[in-house]
Amino acid sequence: MAPVLDHEGRRIAYLRLSVTDRCNCRCVYCMPEDGVPMLSHADILSFEELTDVVRAAAELGVRKVRLTGGEPLARRGVVGLVRMVAAVPGIEEVAMTTNACLLAPVAGALREAGLSRLNVSLDTLRPDRYARITRCGRLEDALAGLDAARAAGFSHTKVNAVLMGGVNDDEVADLAGLARDEAVDVRFIELMPIGPSAAWPRGRFLPAEAVLEALPGMEFLGRDGVAELWHMPGWAGNVGLIRPMSHKFCDGCSRIRVTADGKLKPCLHSAAELDLRGLDHEGLLSALRAGIAAKPKYHRMDEGRASESARDMNEIGG
Ligand code: 5AD
Ligand code: SF4
Repeated sequence: MAPVLDHEGRRIAYLRLSVTDRCNCRCVYCMPEDGVPMLSHADILSFEELTDVVRAAAELGVRKVRLTGGEPLARRGVVGLVRMVAAVPGIEEVAMTTNACLLAPVAGALREAGLSRLNVSLDTLRPDRYARITRCGRLEDALAGLDAARAAGFSHTKVNAVLMGGVNDDEVADLAGLARDEAVDVRFIELMPIGPSAAWPRGRFLPAEAVLEALPGMEFLGRDGVAELWHMPGWAGNVGLIRPMSHKFCDGCSRIRVTADGKLKPCLHSAAELDLRGLDHEGLLSALRAGIAAKPKYHRMDEGRASESARDMNEIGG
């Protein structure tokens, strides 16, 4: 079957699947301090339902699946889900975005189950700051997770840091330094006004240009999906900029998202959702086609608006 294009001619090849809204952390930009009402187990898609969605998406041209959360490793049995998704015909890559705090004990099993790559969220290398930003995480657990991933044979791991003025912008060089000796990409993400951060002071929202200023001498390599890659001569890995606010990349967007409770979100920042629950294979195919057709051309956050999504990031998975 030919790949499905949306109205803008964008080929949809990438599905981000939120497997739980729960998380072991409460990052300040993601969740309110006292937490959020959590979905009950009955509300979230079963492994079979998630795999059915992947099977239909693969038939429509999706080649890459990313498991997100909340925190995907907080979902019991997630290694088995990786195995199921990796076995779907047409799926070439299964990746995961994780805070890595729960990663160390399962890194080997994930690799063995067919996980191709990891993105690790890490906004600081200072233990006290890590505790403040994540509200309940421990830096040493996240670093142990990164070490375990390396030991398990994961390569080209990406480290994602959300850039926050007055919070971690003094650590750009230190965080980027993770790419000095190892082939990891350290990617700085512009903070987006979604969820709790929608009400934050303007000073926290820094253009990613600040990274280029903090790391003079980098050479531009090119685009890699939503990231711009830069290289510091002599370093093993690269530095990435993800600039949803200052440089929209909507025109190159190849992704759709499914929330843990089974709603298809054609765009992270739009309120539009389509219910996938209870649909058979044909129903899933037509809902996915409709969702892809409904993908908006652009988000409007650079026009001074907050995200139009009615959900917090823990429900959508970044
Ligand atoms: N702005 C930018 N990135 C965010 N994430 C979550 N909330 C935001 C936000 N407001 C991303 C981060 C985080 C991942 C789970 O989602 O990369 O590490
Ligand atoms: Fe959890 Fe990620 Fe949200 Fe932090 S940003 S609370 S690690 S889902």
